[in-house]
Amino acid sequence: MSFDVKAFRNEFAFFQQHPDWVYLDSAATMHKPLAVIAAELAFYQKDNSNVHRGAHQLSQQATTLFEQARDQIAKALNAKRREEIIWTSGATQALNMLASGLMGTVLKPGDRILLTALEHHANIVPWQFYCQQHGVFIDVVPLTAEHELDLQAYQQLLELKPKVVAVAEVSNVLGTIQPLEKIISLAKVAGAIAVIDGAQGVVLARPDVQTLGADFYVFSGHKLYGPTGIGVLYGRYELLDLLKPLCFGGEMIKSVSFSGTTLNQLPYRLEAGTPNIAGAIGLAAAMCWLNNFDSAALAAHKQQLFTKLYQGCLAIKGLELLSPQQNNAGILALNIKGEHPTDVAAILNEQKIAVRAGTHCAMPLFQALQLPGAVRLSLAAYNNSQDINRTLQALEQTVELLQ
Ligand SMILES: Cc1ncc(COP(=O)(O)O)c(C=O)c1O
Repeated sequence: MSFDVKAFRNEFAFFQQHPDWVYLDSAATMHKPLAVIAAELAFYQKDNSNVHRGAHQLSQQATTLFEQARDQIAKALNAKRREEIIWTSGATQALNMLASGLMGTVLKPGDRILLTALEHHANIVPWQFYCQQHGVFIDVVPLTAEHELDLQAYQQLLELKPKVVAVAEVSNVLGTIQPLEKIISLAKVAGAIAVIDGAQGVVLARPDVQTLGADFYVFSGHKLYGPTGIGVLYGRYELLDLLKPLCFGGEMIKSVSFSGTTLNQLPYRLEAGTPNIAGAIGLAAAMCWLNNFDSAALAAHKQQLFTKLYQGCLAIKGLELLSPQQNNAGILALNIKGEHPTDVAAILNEQKIAVRAGTHCAMPLFQALQLPGAVRLSLAAYNNSQDINRTLQALEQTVELLQ
């Protein structure tokens, strides 16, 4: 099992043009390989047209490419039907569609849903907003002292019979990989619908949605080497069919008169307006490109780098590590004792080391941790050993400088 990181980095124009940057912000967005940029460019240069509506050959060609991209995603996720793949602008839009679309159909006044203490705001706020409007209660699974999901509390909260359990596959702050199979199977036994926020998890491995048993699984293309502005809402057909659309107009409509409107079938019923055609093609290209690499070797390389980073940070006096080393997707949240995370990130930025600082769209998690924020270092397979060496050296200097 070998992985040629030099060859892998060469797939990215960014690293060819900016060899001086250490990019440790892949949990925010990943760099895009040339294959993805080329696919989008080719669409705009050769095939640009709107989909589903043109009477001309170009539109038909664009429609074919767009629908082939859907087929590819359906295949990658092992969806039962291609209609189960809905294009969205990203995980955020998909979660908003779920929170709004399940109200009144699956969720009725007095019902409960279950979230966790480590969710991204995108998997909290839409639920809060629509639950308040519809009289639905939200319960929250707390964390253990080790910052892991408290599965015992989870089981107790399931006794309240929530209709929906919505949970992130991987914490975007701590990097912890959640025991999805267990979470989903327990939710099923309790009769709840399982919504999985795969924004940070999808890069580890594309889920086999049928085996996993997820009712809904959402992710963003840009965290999977794909373009921004495109994402996927996978849903089990029968449940997707229950979703009320969040937006109206365009291909989601079959017929309109001022006495009433008939909506189209899935998947179009949930895709209002002109979709991000080039984005869908770009995301399919990213998935296709990823198939060129041995996924186990890619994961092993990232894991090796993470271990080196983690061990190196453990050895730097003055650093507080918040993430666990085990069961981690390659994200390390840390602080320099007594220093503000943004100051640390600013110093690293001066050395061309890109990290993120703050509460990472997960304020409730920081409330639970009783911390004002953290610096987040997130890895991808294009990182190399030099990146880690430079980061460790810079962190050591930063501790010295600040303390
Ligand atoms: C766990 C998680 N969920 C949801 C999102 C939202 O993704 P997007 O901004 O691409 O819609 C993010 C983004 O960082 C995330 O990390």
